Formats: sequence, C-alpha cells, structure tokens
Amino acid sequence: MAAWRRLAPGGGIGGGSTGVTGDRVTGDVATMVVVNIGQLVTGNPRLPAPGLVEDAVLAASGDRLIYAGPAAGLDVATGPETVEVDAHRAAVIPGFVDAHTHVVWLGERSEEYALRAAGASYEEIAEKGGGIRSTVAATAAGTLDELIAATRERARRMLRLGTTTVEVKSGYGQSLGAELRQLRAARALGEEADLPDVVTTYLPLHGLPDGDRAAYLEGVLGEGLPAAASLAGFVDCFCETGAWGVDECERLLVAARAHGLRAKVHADQRSHSGGSALAARVGAISADHLDHATDEDLRALAVAGVTGVLLPGASMVLGGPPPPGRRLLDAGATIALATDCNPGTCWCESMPLMVSLGVATAGLTPAEALLAATAGGAAALGLTDRGRLLPGLRCDALVLETPKWLDVGYHLGADPVSQVIVAGRLVRP
Ligand code: NIG
Ligand code: FE
Repeated sequence: MAAWRRLAPGGGIGGGSTGVTGDRVTGDVATMVVVNIGQLVTGNPRLPAPGLVEDAVLAASGDRLIYAGPAAGLDVATGPETVEVDAHRAAVIPGFVDAHTHVVWLGERSEEYALRAAGASYEEIAEKGGGIRSTVAATAAGTLDELIAATRERARRMLRLGTTTVEVKSGYGQSLGAELRQLRAARALGEEADLPDVVTTYLPLHGLPDGDRAAYLEGVLGEGLPAAASLAGFVDCFCETGAWGVDECERLLVAARAHGLRAKVHADQRSHSGGSALAARVGAISADHLDHATDEDLRALAVAGVTGVLLPGASMVLGGPPPPGRRLLDAGATIALATDCNPGTCWCESMPLMVSLGVATAGLTPAEALLAATAGGAAALGLTDRGRLLPGLRCDALVLETPKWLDVGYHLGADPVSQVIVAGRLVRP
C-alpha cells in the first residue's frame, strides 16, 4: 500500500528552474509529487509501449502535471503545501476515461439476466415490454435526488476502480423533462468532490416511444436539442433494427450540429444496421459497439477520424461477436475501451475488467488495451487535456497495488488500484 505525507516547508527536489524543457514544465511549485514509482505508464508514443518509464516520479502543480519522467531527471521546486505520495515501487498509470456509460438509472433487470441465461434473446425480452422500456418506466418516474443517489453509488465504485473521467448518457427518460433530469443528475455528480469528472451525452433516440415515433422525433428536434444543448456536449442514437433507423438518426445528428452537440452513434451492435457508415458520413466523434461492422465500415471510420469505442462487457453478456479491436487498429482507427455500464446489457463499473476483456476477446495487446482505456477514451470524448501522463495535462493518475502495469489486465476481475489522483488531488488515499 502506498503512503503519503506532506513535505517539509521549503523543501525541494532537484535544483528548481523556470521555463519549459522537454518532458517537464518548470517554474511552478509542485503541490503534489508521486515518488518511488517502479513503472510509470505515460502513454507517450515516443517511449516503449505503453509509454513506459522505469524508476519514475510525477509532479503536479494544482490540477496539472509539471513533470512525468525518470526520478533522476526531476527538477521541480516544492513548498510547504506539497503533498508527497510514496508509491513504494508500485506502477502508476493514467486514470481511466470511461467513454460510454448509461449509469443514471433506477430499477433493475435481474430477471432479464436470468431469462437470457435460459435462452431468451435481448430482442425477445424487449418485444415483451422488458429491456430499455422497463428501465425507462422506473427511471422516468424518479426524482432528481433519487437519480443522484442511485448513480452516486455506481460512480463511487467507478472511482475506486480507477475511473477519473466518465461519460454519462441520458436515454432512459423518453420525455423531454425526464431526459433532462438524467443529464442534470449526471452533471450534479460531476460537481461532487471525490467522484470522477463527468461528461454528458443526450441520447434521445434509444428505446422506442409508446406513441407516434415521428411525432416524438419532431419533438426531439424542435425542443429536445435546444434544451439539451446547455446540459450535454454530445448527442447519441441507438441506430439498430428494432430501434431507430439510419434516416431518423441522421436527421438527429445533423440537426444537433447547430446546437453545438457532436455526434456519437450506437452502431452495428446487434446487426449490420448501418450505424458505422452513418457515423463516418456525419463525421461523428465516435462510433460505439461495432460488433457487426464490416471491414469496409471500419476503414470508413478510420478515414473519417471517428474513434471506435469497444464495449467488450456488453458483447460478452449478449453472446454476440467479439468487438473488432484488432480489425479497427489494422484499419488505422483510434480505439477506446469502455464499460457501457447499464442495467440491461452490462452492469459493470470496472475499467480494469474491460482491459482484460479487450485483450481476451478483442485481439488487443495489453499495451493497446491500456491505451484504449485511457488516451483512447479521451479521444472518444474530444478531451485533449487528459488520458496520458504528460507535462501540461491534467494529473489524473492511479497508483496500482503491484509493481507491474501488466497486472491491470492480467489479474482478471481484481481491484488493482491502490490510490486515485483526480486533477492533482488524492481522492482515494
Ligand atoms: O449500449 N444498446 C443500447 N443501449 C444499451 C443497452 C441499454 C439497455 O438495455 O438498457 C447498450 O448496450
Ligand atoms: Fe450503450
């Protein structure tokens, strides 16, 4: 177990200087240093994958890193408020960026889990009124406080397992008010101390509405998008046979541009329904799932600069094809790994487990999987200030329990994280 202490007033590590030099920003007094790091995963592509430095130190000033590199090269000033974290030779990696979740929900669907185990399909359960519809009924009826309380528990588990930034979608409201309430709940949690940073996505085309779908879509375009624009950074749609069609999704994604909402697509998850091609066509920031995407689809995503978000937990639970991790990389695309945390297809808060599954099922090397869960997640959210441990970026870092970063994926189903640092602050000491 790593330990931390405050450094003595007026202390210093190295000589102290000012200016910017290579892998450090100097001139600022460090507010936190993480010393005695056996292996540091920086994500720096110029270093051996996954951006590895041995015998390393991190230093932050406020929420930003000012040094991330060999202990021998450290040269920052410290002051009375500098907190020292001793990693005791454990590995340190960037905080996980979980770029796809539906974590705001009420109710539960354990019966469906048992029904699927007995042979019922996800689609059969949905046709009988279960599935997304069942979670909408429970979630839309909840108050803001109930949504926040239920989600806080899940967000705490995420943080304990090393998630320092989480994307949260609406999609279980299906009326304007209930969708916005989900987004407000997510944003309220993002304001709380000791929880992951939150990025929000408006997902109005998820399950099908009870009434006229055309009228519902018009309402989303006319009222939903303007109202959601101040609460979300992205818009998303479930482009799938039995859910929303390519044309309906395209209208949403194109209209959303005028409101500053960038597109995401649940694409080719359960069938080859055209979501990947749509994501490439509209220049989405990410296309997610992709289990049934063809090689042509994956090339189109790569050419269009769309990040492919792999959700191996949902793929495994639903018994579908594995996510196309290797194929996406071969096509030249950027990839992310995420949990998809939701009550139907993958109740899981663990990014370490997604790293394991990315290696075991999606054809990724351990280094590719770790980068997909950190820098890849940041790319899927358009966040250029995090996902790697480099000077100038946010200090979102995890001290592991063990000396080897490989243990994140290797130790299946474990909690490999000892300490969590969010924006230069120790939140899981
Ligand atoms: O990403 N596919 C659509 N949405 C979720 C599942 C939602 C649910 O079943 O409640 C997913 O897998
Ligand atoms: Fe999803």
